[in-house]
Amino acid sequence: MNEDLIRRRILLGRSFITKFADDEGVDEDYETDQNLKKPQPPLAKAPMRGPEQALALPVNFSELDIDNDFLHVINSRASRRVYTQEPMSLLQLSFLLWCCQGVKALRGRSYATLRTVPSGGARHPFECYLALQRVERLADGLYHYLPLTHALEFLGARDDLPEFITNSLSGQAWAAKANAVFYFSCVFYRAEWRYGIWAHAPVLMDSGHVTENLYLAATSLGLGGCAIAAVDPAASNAAFSLDGLEETVFYAMPVGTVRPSDKPQEDAFYAFVREQGL
Ligand SMILES: Cc1cc2nc3c(=O)[nH]c(=O)nc-3n(C[C@H](O)[C@H](O)[C@H](O)COP(=O)(O)O)c2cc1C
Repeated sequence: MNEDLIRRRILLGRSFITKFADDEGVDEDYETDQNLKKPQPPLAKAPMRGPEQALALPVNFSELDIDNDFLHVINSRASRRVYTQEPMSLLQLSFLLWCCQGVKALRGRSYATLRTVPSGGARHPFECYLALQRVERLADGLYHYLPLTHALEFLGARDDLPEFITNSLSGQAWAAKANAVFYFSCVFYRAEWRYGIWAHAPVLMDSGHVTENLYLAATSLGLGGCAIAAVDPAASNAAFSLDGLEETVFYAMPVGTVRPSDKPQEDAFYAFVREQGL
């Protein structure tokens, strides 16, 4: 890549943040679609397979063995990349989904969802897809979370699930041992309707809340996970039938069963620091 192109790519990246609050060069009469009174997009994607195919998720969370020591959960959160491949219960999966995208209330008839995570303007522009293996009562395969009803829909099985997970996460094969890989997509117009050309920085800010809640929820259950930015959008979008323009997968997080004795193996992730004398 030549110097000029590198510089332009860097400036473009920076502009996501700097232009967020900077109106220089924007026409005075520029209006967002919300201000133009254009119809609001749906708060969440409709079931892709029809509502009758959806499986309601259990919510008896008081039956879970949750670490309720908040400071302990905060202090023990870490990225975990070594999974023991034991089963995950459906209730645990339900709790993870609730904590990262669950809908607690509606505002207006259908103006906004209030969820377990914050979101700029309560736009909540994300959808959550899953690759599941070894989750009790569920067939291995691909799923879509329906936040408005706290339900899951089965999108289909795949013979090559571990290979798909590895490829969709740019070759990170350790993730294929997770019970649940969460794939987060962005439905851009949900945020753009309200924020127009300023929508994109808040979208990235919002995504951090989602995975942080997932980290903390997993930690509180004695599970482990790791946020992943190195997603292969083409492989992920093809699997979940997304066009990559209006909606694209951009963030992922495998979560699996872990054990404390795997700490030395976890630490190997940073072996290069010692090897390279950093
Ligand atoms: C946005 C984001 C993207 C990340 N992408 C990857 C990734 O692709 N692969 C990976 O192994 N870790 C990834 N991580 C995990 C970081 O490497 C990890 O958070 C960091 O090393 C600090 O360690 P800790 O989470 O245990 O505190 C990502 C974390 C974040 C927040």
